Amino acid sequence: MRELEERIRRDGIVEDGDVLKVDSFLNHQMDVELFAAMGREWARLFAGEGVNKILTIEASGIGIACIAAQQFGVPVVFAKKSRTKNIAGDVYHVEIPSFTHGGVSDVIVSKRFLGPGDRLLLIDDFLANGAALEGLLALAEQAGASVAGAGVAVEKAFQPGGARIRARGVRVESLARIQSMGPGHIEFC
Ligand code: G4P
Repeated sequence: MRELEERIRRDGIVEDGDVLKVDSFLNHQMDVELFAAMGREWARLFAGEGVNKILTIEASGIGIACIAAQQFGVPVVFAKKSRTKNIAGDVYHVEIPSFTHGGVSDVIVSKRFLGPGDRLLLIDDFLANGAALEGLLALAEQAGASVAGAGVAVEKAFQPGGARIRARGVRVESLARIQSMGPGHIEFC
């Protein structure tokens, strides 16, 4: 999506260690007009897929998912990073490893909000190693929900997540795919 790529070129900052900082418009300060354009694009791409719910993960996916959901006219469920080890039986639960921060997060969704009748669009801001999307796929599987695909804002195509998720047969629609980046340069696929 040209608009997102141009914004990344203009305002994105590549930091050491392959991190793209987009906190001026995507995941700290949020440009909701841009989010609406992104939502329209996913709605176009996934039209006719029967999506009845969007599933995302806190924190940064939530804002993007909410604006996208307005285009689909469906609710958003966000998977919560649980701070308690005391996981009760009324939730779906998955452990998501973090490659950047180390360790794992316990991630939960209440069984009240996902089930076999659901047709999900997964949304997240970044696709890097794919751990977050794999966690959301596991939660969908536990719920018996079907997955129409995943909408990602920024895919770092030089990291293995996109290939891994697509190899599972999941449709991934990334609005900006970065082939390579370094201080002062960003190349899109
Ligand atoms: P994944 O997102 O594909 O699972 O990959 P990974 O485990 O490597 O990512 C860990 C966290 O770092 C994720 O956020 C992810 O969105 C974020 N991330 C990965 N690459 C970049 C990057 O280049 N720039 C920025 N800004 N973030 C990146 P998180 O810690 O799970 O959640 P959140 O609370 O930040 O949303």
